[in-house]
Amino acid sequence: MIVLGIETSCDETAAAVVDDARRIRSNVVLSQIEEHRPFGGVVPEVAARAHLENADAVIAKAMQDAGVAFADLDCIAATAGPGLIGGVLVGAMSGKAIAMATGKPFVAVNHLEGHALTVRLTDDVQFPYLLLLVSGGHCQLLSVEDVGKYTRLGTTIDDAAGEAFDKTAKMLGLGYPGGPLIEKAAEGGDPQKFDFPRPMAHRPGCDFSFSGLKTSVRRAVETLDRPLADAAPDLAASFQQAVADTLVARTKNAIKMAREAHPDITTLVVAGGVAANTAIGRALDALCAKTGMKLVKPAPALCTDNAAMIAWAGLEHFRLGQSDPLDFKARPRWPLDPDAPAAAFAGVKA
Ligand code: KG4
Ligand code: ZN
Repeated sequence: MIVLGIETSCDETAAAVVDDARRIRSNVVLSQIEEHRPFGGVVPEVAARAHLENADAVIAKAMQDAGVAFADLDCIAATAGPGLIGGVLVGAMSGKAIAMATGKPFVAVNHLEGHALTVRLTDDVQFPYLLLLVSGGHCQLLSVEDVGKYTRLGTTIDDAAGEAFDKTAKMLGLGYPGGPLIEKAAEGGDPQKFDFPRPMAHRPGCDFSFSGLKTSVRRAVETLDRPLADAAPDLAASFQQAVADTLVARTKNAIKMAREAHPDITTLVVAGGVAANTAIGRALDALCAKTGMKLVKPAPALCTDNAAMIAWAGLEHFRLGQSDPLDFKARPRWPLDPDAPAAAFAGVKA
């Protein structure tokens, strides 16, 4: 079985071809970072236009790299939400158009499910497992029980973890995107220098909140007794440590919650751009060693947004006999666990 996947829900225009032998035959990702850099964040309208300009060429390259023709495909999968709706529409419409022109089935993929199922492509991980999804758009803990079956254990009630990195980097004058720049600055800093809060750390459950931490960083920046450039490494290191501690504390609770429902759960998967952070990776390693869990982290290129994960999620649905009609409506908000209560201020992040 061979599947083309298309991803356009944020600021990467991506297309990939995967097969049911878990081979990634091609994986093309065109980043829009340069278009958004002057604005210090992703501008939805700029993103949608860039997807429109580049989608055809990115899809053609993915097909060419894989050495397959449309006739060789079993189905076409495209992200249909959640995400920035202008971009989502470009990818979903491209997928539907190819499906219509070739007479092949179309599978509408939930972007979050793409992240959730990636480890079944890369590491053949079996259900159930616990997922910590930490990206610029999402911060959730989910128990992954089957294709299409998720229980959300926790989510952010305000910002996503990556968003906190990006906004903090801006405050520290480091630039965009913030995650890698904070990590780099933190190398020369003292993580104990600033006593930032660990939001929600002692509350029951495993929801997240990062707005209080962000406010503390702002206050520290405003009351510095030395130039910002001098203090930035200490601020970055202290912030990064606070995020790592928070993620560990909330994931520890989630492990307990997941084990109550699934005593056989043994694997913690971490995905999303923030999973690329070495300090956070080390902290989660230590947590897993302590709690007897196995940590699985896909390679950074498959942790961040890509279309191989969309093709794979489409393939998982299609081999169960599931596909979608061409009038499937793109969804700006599409929770993986429809029974989970909406988090008031998290918007599409929940
Ligand atoms: O998964 P991703 O590529 O896109 C989505 O948001 O879906 O994640 C991007 C986010 C950005 O907020 C970026 O600052 C963060 O991941 N990030 C990092 C690191 N690399 C990327 N955060 C912390 N440390 C990093 N090394
Ligand atoms: Zn993503």
